[in-house]
Amino acid sequence: MKVVIENVEKRFVDKKKNEVTALKNINFSIEEQEFVVLVGPSGCGKSTLLNIVGGLLSPSLGEVYFEGKQEKEKEPTLGIVFQEIALLPWRTVYQNVIYGLEERGASKQECKEIGQHYIDMVGLTGFENSFPKQLSGGMKQRAGIARALAVEPDLLLMDEPFSALDAQTRTIMQEELLTIWNRTKLSTLYVTHNIQEAVYLADRVIVLSRHPGEIKEIIKIDLPRMGRDQDRYRQQFERYSDQIWNLIRHDAQEALKEA
Ligand SMILES: Nc1ncnc2c1ncn2[C@@H]1O[C@H](COP(=O)(O)OP(=O)(O)O)[C@@H](O)[C@H]1O
Ligand SMILES: [Mg+2]
Repeated sequence: MKVVIENVEKRFVDKKKNEVTALKNINFSIEEQEFVVLVGPSGCGKSTLLNIVGGLLSPSLGEVYFEGKQEKEKEPTLGIVFQEIALLPWRTVYQNVIYGLEERGASKQECKEIGQHYIDMVGLTGFENSFPKQLSGGMKQRAGIARALAVEPDLLLMDEPFSALDAQTRTIMQEELLTIWNRTKLSTLYVTHNIQEAVYLADRVIVLSRHPGEIKEIIKIDLPRMGRDQDRYRQQFERYSDQIWNLIRHDAQEALKEA
């Protein structure tokens, strides 16, 4: 299934009743099994765009549609991982992971098999009966990822899922996400303001500008999917990082002044 984002524009009215164009002229697609990363400074419209693709917000103009879904009448299934860890505190890890499955009317047996499969995949085996408050930040995000995967989505959406984690946990989670992605090969839209993370994960990086959020450039990362952090790719990795940084440097400085 291919996701097409066509001429999307989004306007908001801010607190002073001024109209703000958060996104403008947004055109791109996410191919089957493609990992697309949206990168840009704070306030450039990344979350707004992800929410529009996920159907949680409607665009002021333009549309998002899905091509090549086999069962045409059925809406595509989406798995979403937010920056704020959105686990239900009164449910255990297992109960959180199977939440979407239950909603869809899966049987107890199905929930058990699929739930356990993804709990194992994210490395939470043994923590099925723990409650969110008993988990570290990294483990909560693992549970959030397992929950998104458990519905076996057509499209995985992730909005800065690791930005609340410390640097070491973040690096580990990035590696694990790649390993998981390699097994599931889900079409993915991933949002980050972290350039290193974008180059490490993406097939293509979409660089957004701010005020209004427009696509500055789409950069294909021509490196093997796995092991991009190896020494032999260091130069190319840094070249991509520099290229992206040069595109967003000015906007990032402006964003700091507003913060
Ligand atoms: N519900 C809203 N009402 C008004 N303005 C909004 C709303 N949501 C986002 N914005 C504005 O749209 C712009 C983009 O926000 P956002 O998508 O959250 O950026 P990012 O995720 O890149 O940091 C910002 O200027 C923000 O203030
Ligand atoms: Mg955001």
